[in-house]
Amino acid sequence: MVLEKEKLNIAVIGSGGREHAIITKLLQSKRTSRLIAIPGNGGIARDVPCVDINAGDITGVVNYCKNNGIDYVVVAPDDPLALGMVDALDKAGIPSFGPVKKAARIEASKIFAKDLMKKHNIPTAGYETFDDSAAALRYVQEYFTGGRDSIVIKADGLALGKGVTVCLSLAEAQAAVCEAMDEKRFGASGEHIVIEEFLQGPEVSVLAFCDGSTVVPMISSMDHKRAHDGDNGPNTGGMGTIAPSPFWTPHIASACMEKIFLPTVEAMKKTGAPFKGCLYFGLMLTRDGPKVIEYNCRFGDPETQVVLPLLNSDLLEIMLACTNGTLKPEMVQFTNECAACIIMASGGYPSSYNRGYKITGIEEANALHNVKVYVAGAAEKDGALVTSGGRVLGVTAAAPDLQQALNNAYNAVKKINFESCYYRKDIGKKALQSN
Ligand code: AMP
Ligand code: GLY
Repeated sequence: MVLEKEKLNIAVIGSGGREHAIITKLLQSKRTSRLIAIPGNGGIARDVPCVDINAGDITGVVNYCKNNGIDYVVVAPDDPLALGMVDALDKAGIPSFGPVKKAARIEASKIFAKDLMKKHNIPTAGYETFDDSAAALRYVQEYFTGGRDSIVIKADGLALGKGVTVCLSLAEAQAAVCEAMDEKRFGASGEHIVIEEFLQGPEVSVLAFCDGSTVVPMISSMDHKRAHDGDNGPNTGGMGTIAPSPFWTPHIASACMEKIFLPTVEAMKKTGAPFKGCLYFGLMLTRDGPKVIEYNCRFGDPETQVVLPLLNSDLLEIMLACTNGTLKPEMVQFTNECAACIIMASGGYPSSYNRGYKITGIEEANALHNVKVYVAGAAEKDGALVTSGGRVLGVTAAAPDLQQALNNAYNAVKKINFESCYYRKDIGKKALQSN
């Protein structure tokens, strides 16, 4: 058993709104002593000290933690997990929250994830894998000639959330194959691809704590991935979230536990890489039942910004139980409230955008009841916060029902200003209509 010390010095790795939400929750733990972010951002720096080391610099992070009395590390983003930061910290004698490199493959290789699901009968879209563009092109030609009208092309490796193309014509599918395999748009991540069947139905995100054997799902949530209202425009990292998802019924939850969550954790054990940390299930509720769209080996962003504010339990205790293999369902309790998060982005995101615009109004928004502004792409400049990324802020509100949470979040958004800011006006609309 690691970490019997009563009070712990903790480092959270990462620099987005997700990390700000994790830090906000960890600051409420009675066992947190000192808390730092590596590298954090200008907004996080207003809550905790930030240390300027790149999240992908494994040696730099491990050395810093070793030399500065850090007892426990929370590794939040996919890249350092896929690079083996948890393994390296472990070697240095520092326990951490997150999967080892071998287990992080569940996100870092879509082919690994698909083959795992096939082998263990976990419901997912039918698929084929390719490492040769000529064969992939022949396959899509036959697929569309067979009368089907949509297909999904996925780069095998990590691609900053951009490696998936939903294709509604043969020409689009051919272009997507060529972009990934011949033009190498995603670098080595696109050398191998998955081509899969197009699924339809409401999408639900379920984050789950895992200790290698036990899996405890958190409250469900719903992301809004497209850039513009009405689910139009390009895919983004996520433009807003609500929790819980009204599509997530107790019946569906128990079916997913039996057919997806438990079998996945068992399957990972059998590969010799038990999963510890937060396992993200991206699910589609199809007419044939729930199916896995993707796994992520980490907390979702911006799902975390609506899930953690509703957590009633001590996040640090839960994380330590995941690391120690002592997780129990009763450790994870949520309130009965709802939460909504509106992403305020830089005009032009997810393509190119300008940086450096002064942000005003965050304090006024934070002063509203049950509102918290999680800062993602912002930096400190001359005593003010300025924009420094595509997704700038995640404005989150919690309330007894979803409509109120949305009203409160949008009222808070109105207090905030920066040049060329844009946000979706219809977050939660589909969820409200489903009631
Ligand atoms: P991913 O990066 O795997 O989360 O995929 C991005 C988005 O593409 C998902 O959130 C879905 O909306 C969509 N998508 C991925 N796979 C499929 C599929 N097989 N059928 C329909 N939509 C999909
Ligand atoms: N919101 C989707 C993700 O974190 O991948």
